[in-house]
Amino acid sequence: MARSLNIFLFFLCLEIITPTLNANILESKEFWKEEQPEFDSYWQGRAVEAKQFNEAAYFPDPFAVSGNFTASITEIIAGKGARRNLRGNKGGGQCLATNPIDRCWRCDPNWADNRQKLADCVQGFGRNTRGGKGGPIYVVTDPSDDDLMNPKPGTLRHAVTRNGPLWIIFARNMLITLQQELIMNSDKTIDGRGVDVFIANGAGITIQFVKNIIIHGIKVYDIEVREGGTIRDSETHYGFRTRSDGDGISIFGSSNIWIDHVSMRNCTDGLIDAIMGSTAITISNGHFTDHNEVMLFGASPDHKMDKIMQITLAFNHFGKRLVQRMPRARFGFVHCVNNDYTHWEMYAIGGSQNPTLISEGNRFIGPENKMVGKDLINSKEVTKREYTEESEWKSWQWRSINDEFLNGAYFIQSGPELKDRPFSRKDMITAKPGSYVGRLTRFAGNLRCNVGKPC
Ligand SMILES: *[C@@H]1O[C@H](CO)[C@@H](O)[C@H](O)[C@H]1NC(C)=O
Ligand SMILES: *[C@@H]1O[C@H](CO)[C@@H](O)[C@H](O)[C@H]1NC(C)=O
Repeated sequence: MARSLNIFLFFLCLEIITPTLNANILESKEFWKEEQPEFDSYWQGRAVEAKQFNEAAYFPDPFAVSGNFTASITEIIAGKGARRNLRGNKGGGQCLATNPIDRCWRCDPNWADNRQKLADCVQGFGRNTRGGKGGPIYVVTDPSDDDLMNPKPGTLRHAVTRNGPLWIIFARNMLITLQQELIMNSDKTIDGRGVDVFIANGAGITIQFVKNIIIHGIKVYDIEVREGGTIRDSETHYGFRTRSDGDGISIFGSSNIWIDHVSMRNCTDGLIDAIMGSTAITISNGHFTDHNEVMLFGASPDHKMDKIMQITLAFNHFGKRLVQRMPRARFGFVHCVNNDYTHWEMYAIGGSQNPTLISEGNRFIGPENKMVGKDLINSKEVTKREYTEESEWKSWQWRSINDEFLNGAYFIQSGPELKDRPFSRKDMITAKPGSYVGRLTRFAGNLRCNVGKPC
């Protein structure tokens, strides 16, 4: 996360932040203190502008959006008349798209000529994200990242700092090691389909005070902290950035973001963090492994602007060697739907400050009990309320709907029950939707797409 930032506005009233075990750097009071004094009228202006578009992206009735998404999945699973229909086969041939987002584009053998059609496929809270749709295609030909102030044409940094919409693709397989965080400008799609794009061994991607970003089909791993420096963030501006925190993808005060079919592992801080009033986000079809603090949504009890945060997590596979936070939320509304949680060491879904967490049709496989010294460690509880008494959290709306629990996993619910969820309609389907998760997430992560064939 990027913090050079000068977002003094947000930090006028710092209170005591509860100390946290295993804290993300973004959760430390010292971190925000250090950031606070910097002042730069450019980012101040950007923050004010971003606040407006983030508020405009907020859905006043989040249950309508989450319910609609669930209904479209149910249609695929059950068919309009209970005909099972999970193997979409619209384009004929070998298309195996198994969920409604993928079925929108993967069966088209001409996907490479219709790349921008992808932008019509997003569902959930990020549903209005269009990325670079309508803009020209920009082909990245050069994996280098040597000039942060005046990036070379043909590099990814040059592409993402242009003004105006761009659909960014890659000429060939490439490993891009970012010397410092990659600061994206609005209205961009990073589309790795058809080649292998690895962002690794350097800094991560920063989505700060911008809107309308799609990141699709790349691998992000082994992301490190970098020291900062002068970095370009648009055609018309560059500025000094302090140390990056080592997030894979950092979403900071931004909205209409869709992250789809990424594979991510082993970043220094979070894999994906969304903070500072970010909203209208969908993270789908991802494959995540080898990480402690996977996703942090909302960094501090002081950041009340995170009440507008609305995030859909769908069809992701939370896999091997993950520890916790899938996600950890503060404030806001998170719809976790049809994700496969096959591994966690501490817990899967948690939070504080009264977030709404709707867990629907997921599969949770509890970890084996472990002996640590003389203690038997049992982490089969999916949920974790951080630093809050039950008298307080019992009113938080954390609901599990048609989740599947294996190997002893269990979810402690709280708050009012949800009515009229499509998955609850008994006549729709007899099996639990959670038991379909294996199929719905079968292609999670980076896909191998060949030009001229369904993907
Ligand atoms: C979801 O909403 C869209 C319009 O926003 C509508 O066209 C579609 O039919 C809805 N889908 C379901 C399954 O309710
Ligand atoms: C994780 O990434 C760091 C670099 O940031 C690297 O040094 C380390 O070996 C990686 N660990 C694993 C398990 O791949």
